[in-house]
Amino acid sequence: MPKAAIDLTARAHAWLRPVLAPGATALDATCGNGHDTLFLARAVAPGGSVHAFDLQDVAIERSRRRLDGAATGAQLHWYHQDHAGLAAELTGVRLNAAMFNLGWLPRSDSDLITTPGSTTAALTAAVALLRPGGRVTIICYRGHAGGASETAAVQAWLERTQACVLAREPDEPADPAPLLYVLTKERETD
Ligand SMILES: C[S@@+](CC[C@H](N)C(=O)[O-])C[C@H]1O[C@@H](n2cnc3c(N)ncnc32)[C@H](O)[C@@H]1O
Repeated sequence: MPKAAIDLTARAHAWLRPVLAPGATALDATCGNGHDTLFLARAVAPGGSVHAFDLQDVAIERSRRRLDGAATGAQLHWYHQDHAGLAAELTGVRLNAAMFNLGWLPRSDSDLITTPGSTTAALTAAVALLRPGGRVTIICYRGHAGGASETAAVQAWLERTQACVLAREPDEPADPAPLLYVLTKERETD
């Protein structure tokens, strides 16, 4: 995916670090080349687990190889399937964090991109599994064909989700710079 002026992946990791600790549970909804999965695995180890989805075989293979090489000690669960079906796979799982790094897989078929219907279905499912105080990050890329309409669908979804938006970065994005959204689910109060 194109590089943003600020590194939004690094920013997403920074937003998630405070809600991750050894023993925590995380979701990587688009594992791609495994960079985010590796970050999550390191943050939840030892004793934690990461659930990683991707539609492409090559993405699962690359991510597995990266994680095998890193031997983080986290429990890893791989799902070679559409993340829209994540609720059926993650029955009983409660998430501390979820990452959605949208778009296409670098060094691969750039026609295979995340799409509005699957993305918003998966976001709804992830928010339902999120623990109070947990966080979800979404990186939307607007520069490729389909990117602007997916971003518009995510923005419309943000209007109706029960999660609240903690941040959007950058503050003043140039068009069509990528956007990072950070969501949280309110902690229950007494
Ligand atoms: C920008 S890449 C993700 C980068 C990745 N997080 C990393 O750290 O390398 C987007 C990924 O989303 C995957 N993808 C596209 N549609 C999907 C879907 N419906 N369900 C799951 N993964 C999907 C693509 O195959 C691609 O690997």
